Amino acid sequence: MKLTVDERFARPFASEDEIEAVMPEIAAAAAKVFARSGEGAEMLGWLDLPENYDRAEYARLKEAARRIRSDSEVLIVIGIGGSYLGSRAVIEFLKSPRYNELKKDTPSVYFSGDNLSGSDLDELLSLIEGRDFSVNVISKSGTTTEPAVAFRIFRAELEKRYGAEGAASRIYVTTDARKGTLKAFADRAGYETFTVPDSVGGRFSVLTSVGLLPIAVAGIDTDALLAGAACAMRELAVPGSANPAFRYAALRNLFYRKGRKMEILAGYEPFQLMLNEWWKQLFGESEGKDGKGLYPSSVVFTTDLHSLGQYVQSGERIMFETVLTVDSPCSTAAVPYDPADIDGLNFLAGAPLDAVNKAAMQGTLVAHADGGVPNIVLRLAERSEEALGELIYFFEFSCAVSGYTLGVNPFNQPGVEVYKRNMFSLLGKPGYEDPTGRLAKII
Ligand code: PA5
Repeated sequence: MKLTVDERFARPFASEDEIEAVMPEIAAAAAKVFARSGEGAEMLGWLDLPENYDRAEYARLKEAARRIRSDSEVLIVIGIGGSYLGSRAVIEFLKSPRYNELKKDTPSVYFSGDNLSGSDLDELLSLIEGRDFSVNVISKSGTTTEPAVAFRIFRAELEKRYGAEGAASRIYVTTDARKGTLKAFADRAGYETFTVPDSVGGRFSVLTSVGLLPIAVAGIDTDALLAGAACAMRELAVPGSANPAFRYAALRNLFYRKGRKMEILAGYEPFQLMLNEWWKQLFGESEGKDGKGLYPSSVVFTTDLHSLGQYVQSGERIMFETVLTVDSPCSTAAVPYDPADIDGLNFLAGAPLDAVNKAAMQGTLVAHADGGVPNIVLRLAERSEEALGELIYFFEFSCAVSGYTLGVNPFNQPGVEVYKRNMFSLLGKPGYEDPTGRLAKII
C-alpha cells in the first residue's frame, strides 16, 4: 500500500501489550463489518464499492463531466455534509485549495448549499456573472433545507440565462434512485440524474457519483482514485494485528480509554485543509453519539503551530494527534541565497522547502510527544489519485471498525435532526409546530 501507519511517536503512550490486549475487540468489530452483521449493516454499501459499482452510471458520469468541461467555465456543486465535503477535499488535496484561481483548462468548481448565508450566495452569484455555468445538485434525502434553498436560486439564474430547456441541460442531479422530492422534481423537469446508492450514507459517499462527478469535472483521474481505494479494500480485508486499519482503530480506542477525548488530525500542507473537514464529518457523525466518541479536531501546521500549537504543547492533556504526511516532495521550491543575509537564513540557502517543512514536522513530533501528546503518523507515499483513494478507504473502514469497537452504530446520525426540528418550528414549517411554546419563550 502507499499508506503506512508509523507508531513510533505513539508507542511511549501505548505498549505493544496494550495494543494486543485491545486487538480481540478490534477483530470482533471488523468481523461484524465483514459479515455485515452489526447495527446499521444495511449502510455498508461502501465496503466493496471500489469494485462493485454501477459501470453504466459511471460511464454516463464521465460523459457528463466531459460535457460540463466543454460547455461551462464554472460548475456550482450544491450540497451539504457528505454531499460536498468529499469532492471538495479530493479536488483541493490533488489540485489545490486555490484550484479556482489557478490557470487551468477545466472549469472552476464552487460549492454552495452548505450553509444558509445570504452573503455567501450573493458572492457566488457575482462570481458567475458573464461565465457559462452548470449545476450539480446533490442530496441523498432530497429534502435538506440548505441545498434546496441554493438550488432554487441557481436554478432561477440558469433559467433566466438559458431558458427552461437550456437550464435543464445544465442541471445534474445526484440523489436517491427512487425516493425524495428532488428525484421526483428531476424526473418531471428532465434533468440528468445520478444515484446515491441506498446502502451508502452521505459521509461514506465520496467514491459514488456524489463525489466522482465534481471530481471528474476538475480533471482528476477517477479511475485511479477508485483503483487506490480497491487496493486498500483488498489489503484491509486481511484480518490480524498487522492490518493498518486495525492498528489505527486500536490506538484510537486505547487512547480514548486512557482519557484522551480528542483526536487532532494534523497535516503540514494547506491542501489538506478540506480533507481534515471531510475526516471530521466522517468520524464525528459516525462516533459522536450515546454520550460517547472522540471529538475530531484538526490543524494545518506549521500555520497552526502559531496558534493551537501552544495548547497542544502544554495545555490540558486531553488529546492525541494523528499526523498525515506525504513522503515524496510536493514541490521543488527552495530557499534562495541572499548575499546580504540580513535575515540570517543563508544556512538554509538551496534547501528544498519540502525538507524544511519535514524538519518542522519531525521537530514537532518529538516536541509534542515530549509534551505528553501521543502521535500516530500516517505516511502517504505520494500526492496522487491512487494514494488518496487508499487513504479515503482506510479512513472509512477504520471508522466503521472503530465505531463498533466503541459500541455505537457508526452509520446513523440521529443528533443532526434536533436543530432542524427547532429551526423549522421557529420558521413556521407546517408539521413542526411547538404546542408548548418552549422555543418562543427561550428565544
Ligand atoms: O453523512 C450524512 O449522511 C450527512 O452529513 C448528509 O450527507 C447531510 O446531512 C446531507 O444530507 P442529504 O444528502 O440528504 O442532503
